[in-house]
Amino acid sequence: MSDMNKQNRSSWSGQLAFVLAAAASAIGLGNLWRFPYLAAKYGGGVFIAVYIALSLTLGFTLLVTEIAIGRYSRQSQLTAFNKLGHPKWNFLGVLATVVPLFILPYYNVIGGWVVKYFVAYVKLVAGGGTAIENPQAFFDSFVAAPWDPFVCMAIFTVVTCAVIVMGVKNGIEKSNIVMMPLLLLMAVGLAVYVGCLPGAGEGIKFYLVPDFSSCDNIGKVVLGAMGQMFYSLSLAMGIMITYGSYMRRQDSVPKAAVRIVAADTFVAVLSGFMIIPVVVMFAAKSGAGRATIDAGPGLMFVTLPKVFAEFGATGAWIGIAFFTLVLFAAFTSAISMTEACVAAVCDYLHVKRNTSVAAVCTWSIAIGSLSAFGYGRWKDFKPFGLPALDFFDSSMNVLTPIVAALICVFAGWVLRPKRILAECRRDGSAVGFKTFYAVMVKFIAPLLVLTILVSEICRTLGIGGWKI
Ligand code: PFF
Repeated sequence: MSDMNKQNRSSWSGQLAFVLAAAASAIGLGNLWRFPYLAAKYGGGVFIAVYIALSLTLGFTLLVTEIAIGRYSRQSQLTAFNKLGHPKWNFLGVLATVVPLFILPYYNVIGGWVVKYFVAYVKLVAGGGTAIENPQAFFDSFVAAPWDPFVCMAIFTVVTCAVIVMGVKNGIEKSNIVMMPLLLLMAVGLAVYVGCLPGAGEGIKFYLVPDFSSCDNIGKVVLGAMGQMFYSLSLAMGIMITYGSYMRRQDSVPKAAVRIVAADTFVAVLSGFMIIPVVVMFAAKSGAGRATIDAGPGLMFVTLPKVFAEFGATGAWIGIAFFTLVLFAAFTSAISMTEACVAAVCDYLHVKRNTSVAAVCTWSIAIGSLSAFGYGRWKDFKPFGLPALDFFDSSMNVLTPIVAALICVFAGWVLRPKRILAECRRDGSAVGFKTFYAVMVKFIAPLLVLTILVSEICRTLGIGGWKI
């Protein structure tokens, strides 16, 4: 009999454990790498202000909706809609399960890259490795290597699954209690260290002072911020529904949502203080200018290692601290995605948790191998002309807004806001945002989410200036 059924469904040990788990899911590569790079690209303070405003309105609304659906149904995303008495909406549960099932494998491939870099810096400190001294060559040869990316991905996947096997309280909660405070400590430590470097002021100014000249089109800034917020809060991936299903009845949904948004935004803004000043200093020194700052996806695996190399022997230690931080962030996010998949299989097939973990682990390694080998031995396999990893990433960027918009339509027009709000009041506290929530979930959120969808389709097809 499944341990996921109604009578003995696992639960978090308290409000803090839930907030920590959801924040651990939200805080990931999106905060550490994507937020600073987008802020640098879209006018610093302008982007930060738009991002915070969107998180507190749209982000809060979507988060409350997903958590409340989970807690009310006590099911993961796959079976929640049926349980709520709307079997016609089962298709949405299927879609919301397909998303983590396809994101998880390639997220684990990137997790494997982080493992590789972490080990390389440890070797560098131990005096046994020099490869990372040429970061571009290191990255190119690693991703194209015959086995390395696969082996690193498999290690990352198996360790994640081992945590999941241990269960909600003993596995996920305990690993978060260790990793999240360490992550925060390292992020604050690195940001303070960088802030104290001579010349850091220029970079901090570049990051915080609104630069209206580099955001010629405010629409693009809003779209960039919205897409980022969406990914950063792990929305539309079934995760918040599954995690909400383990939430105790006596805990407050809106309070938890505000804390998750606050924690996620705090780490995103902090990451900018950690990354932007060093990259700006490096750009000035190397004469590479804005190209370094706009390095995009290459920022984490090529540009930053180049910057670390500039610090000489200390750079290797900074590399270890930074990639430990990234490893924890990627790991806790992968755990949440794995849990959403495992819970869905348990709830649907009523199998034991271990069986479900074995199935999800096998799936993830099998599908992940397409992305892991995608720059090397299987580089000729190019769906729609893209390397496998980019193909999965683009498809998911289109699918997630569809899922989010449908969740809003379901909550706003089928289940109705009053049901979600009743779930928010269950802990006995008053809810002061009734009208705001109803207007947001029925009209504004679906419309805003649909604009992300249009921009993602245009981006994928390379249409116009929509690229973000
Ligand atoms: N929210 C994570 C981040 O900001 O990096 C990314 C993420 C986590 C994506 C979990 C997907 C997911 F299921």
